[in-house]
Amino acid sequence: MASPLPIDQLCRALEAEFDRDPRGPGVPKLLSRYQADHEDWRSWTHFSQERYTRNLVARCGSYELLLLCWEEGQESPIHDHADQRCWMGVLQGELEEVHYRTPAAGGIEQGRVQPFQAGQVAFIDDGIAFHLIRPRGGRAVSLHLYSNPIDTCRIFCADTGRAETVAMGYHSVRGQLCAGDDPAVIREQVLAGTWGA
Ligand SMILES: [Fe+2]
Repeated sequence: MASPLPIDQLCRALEAEFDRDPRGPGVPKLLSRYQADHEDWRSWTHFSQERYTRNLVARCGSYELLLLCWEEGQESPIHDHADQRCWMGVLQGELEEVHYRTPAAGGIEQGRVQPFQAGQVAFIDDGIAFHLIRPRGGRAVSLHLYSNPIDTCRIFCADTGRAETVAMGYHSVRGQLCAGDDPAVIREQVLAGTWGA
């Protein structure tokens, strides 16, 4: 029997970590070890000139792991994380994170801007800030871990702070393109182990 891919070994370790403690205190170390030692993620990357891509690696009850692929000049909307916890590990290139908050009086305020290089791990939740992510100086690839999985989130207008709830989709699942397929159907199939069967 073929040995599991390093990224699948990472997934098992993440599941065990969230079983042990749902806050995931050991997650940064697990992500940074994987980032330092492995490149199997490269075969699952897909880039698009239209927008950055969200590529599903794994999803279970406690978490969702995605590879995000960024072309130069692309950026995420300002968004929240639906009361979940989010870790971002940079696999290739450099990413810039911009924090935002929405004051009670209305509008939106920009906070700190921080670069993250390959090998680094960032963390955010809604208590810290909302944020925007974009690559700096060329293409970038990042691992995004959400606990619990996120099906919808809020995005914010950069001028007014007005929020809109949007559904999250996938560009590919475990390397196989699925853009345009219903994300709810994909999620069901992934959870049932029947996706791509
Ligand atoms: Fe985010």
